[in-house]
Amino acid sequence: GFLHYEVKILVIGLDNSGKTTLINHIKPSNTSSTFEVTPTVGYQVEEFSKHNLNFTILDMSGESRYRNLWETYYENVQAIIFVVDSTDKVRMCVARDELDELLNHDHVKDRTCPILFFANKMDVPGACTPVDTMKSMGLERITNKAWHITSSNAITGLGVDEGVEWLAEKLI
Ligand code: GTP
Ligand code: MG
Repeated sequence: GFLHYEVKILVIGLDNSGKTTLINHIKPSNTSSTFEVTPTVGYQVEEFSKHNLNFTILDMSGESRYRNLWETYYENVQAIIFVVDSTDKVRMCVARDELDELLNHDHVKDRTCPILFFANKMDVPGACTPVDTMKSMGLERITNKAWHITSSNAITGLGVDEGVEWLAEKLI
């Protein structure tokens, strides 16, 4: 088709969960290159077209000192991608607390914006399954929004397309 919808997506999750690596696989291959990913400072904006959608992706830093930036974008995005490091069992409760803050935020709680979760780093032995991650994160409590969780390997891109296709379907 010729219609290009504008889609603004916020990508959040703890530092080191793999957000920037994963976004490099969402970007069309001609614009992404294989470079060493470094921790994001503040945030970074990515713009490209895919699936007939014009994407604006806000790649937020997950470092604790930058997490207060996340909420400044809640109002202006149509969807949220929350990346969870499925190998970081120690900090899963921190990720869950951050999700709590998101879900209780005035600009999110009564909205129907879809949330896509990636249980990332599935390639690492001992990684939590998506079902375990879903339970640890308490995703069943999300009752007024469409949500989906899928496992991913952000380095190879495995699982990334499946998640993004789910999201694209919810946004059209
Ligand atoms: P901040 O920008 O600091 O919030 O981190 P981030 O969430 O953007 O993480 P980033 O993409 O920088 O990845 C952190 C580290 O995890 C890097 O060394 C990546 O190579 C690695 N990594 C990301 N995804 C995966 C994955 O699926 N599997 C494995 N094994 N490593 C991954
Ligand atoms: Mg990053």
